[in-house]
Amino acid sequence: MPSRSLVDPNVAGLTDLPQIVEVVRDASRRLPLLARPDLTYLFWESTLRCNLKCAHCGSRCEPGRVDPELTRDEVLGILDTIAQDFDATRIFVSITGGEPLLRPDLVEVVAHMTSLGMRSCIVTNGTLLDAERASQLFDAGMRTISVSIDGLQAEHEIMRGKGSWARALSAITLARKAGFPVVEAITCVRPSNLTSLPAIERAVRDAGAVLWRLITLDRMGRLEGDADPAMWLDPWQVRTLLDFIERRRRELAAAGDPFGVQFSCGGFLGPRRELKVRSNDGQCFAGLCVASILSDGNVSACPSLPRSWAQGSARRERFSSIWHNKFGAFRDASWRRSGICADCSWFKLCLGGGLHERLAQPDSFCWLDRQRDPV
Ligand SMILES: C[S@@+](CC[C@H](N)C(=O)[O-])C[C@H]1O[C@@H](n2cnc3c(N)ncnc32)[C@H](O)[C@@H]1O
Ligand code: SF4
Ligand code: SF4
Repeated sequence: MPSRSLVDPNVAGLTDLPQIVEVVRDASRRLPLLARPDLTYLFWESTLRCNLKCAHCGSRCEPGRVDPELTRDEVLGILDTIAQDFDATRIFVSITGGEPLLRPDLVEVVAHMTSLGMRSCIVTNGTLLDAERASQLFDAGMRTISVSIDGLQAEHEIMRGKGSWARALSAITLARKAGFPVVEAITCVRPSNLTSLPAIERAVRDAGAVLWRLITLDRMGRLEGDADPAMWLDPWQVRTLLDFIERRRRELAAAGDPFGVQFSCGGFLGPRRELKVRSNDGQCFAGLCVASILSDGNVSACPSLPRSWAQGSARRERFSSIWHNKFGAFRDASWRRSGICADCSWFKLCLGGGLHERLAQPDSFCWLDRQRDPV
């Protein structure tokens, strides 16, 4: 077993010292939040219904497994209590699913969020967005839309179904035309689309995206226990992906190009990568700054955690009471100092990995290991 220490291959040597100092400073900002959490990011899993049936869907999107989804009035009521108990102007709400555009009351809920001072975005497969809906969401105060683009046409459609690619790209264009300043493309990177990354970047930029987030798949939902090599990156492929992101960020910065490329949030990437492939706050803040209202009103830290990790129901209890009194497991890092993390030199910076990754793939959640060839 390779040692997890300051001589880790992720650290080249003394020349990395300034970068390490920056990473330590950034990562240390999470420690005080264990004792003094600060809600600033809220997921609303608006529905588990979906018009697509993606092969990799982490949500599984099978309503019936959980209680019925929150009604419009229930959602508005929960948002009202949140605005009473927290500073709503500091809260960004990411509306996810399932497919949020299936909710007929979406525009109304977004307008309510805006009236309370919250900012919001949707994460969507894009296929149901038309010019009218895009304008309605913009008029309701939304300013960010994230559209999933899982590769070039064939790579995207093998996961998401025939006809889904052109409609997703057109959603990006429609959102920009409706006035959205921030339109982001999100790409799940797999071995089959790794070499297409430059072409995917061109496609999403041509469509109008101003940001591009590259993520890796997790073994959750339909991928729980999955062993299909087509889905999972080997360590050299993880390095290739991170090298690509690092290089593009450097090139874009040097050219003064405002297009943003970044890696997803999650576990600590090691001192050489952290802050080079994503900005500050890239590590897991589940339960520290982040909470989630699930489709059935249950409250968790992150919608990607197993549902058994929900800590109560906002249908039956005030959201703030769950946040203040029942989120102990997310704020006590001691249980994560076990297994491979027990004697790791990076523990204070990493706190034992991204929570959803740790729970979804307990044998391969450490990003230092995921970048390192097996010995
Ligand atoms: C669950 S979807 C819900 C929103 C919308 N239906 C969509 O597809 O964009 C939210 C994001 O999670 C990503 N996702 C889906 N399954 C995943 C998995 N197994 N691991 C990691 N991300 C996944 C999707 O690609 C999408 O960008
Ligand atoms: S990934 Fe999104 S579009 Fe695909 S099935 Fe899941 S919720 Fe639906
Ligand atoms: S996941 Fe665990 S072993 Fe890996 S860097 Fe973080 S604390 Fe160390």
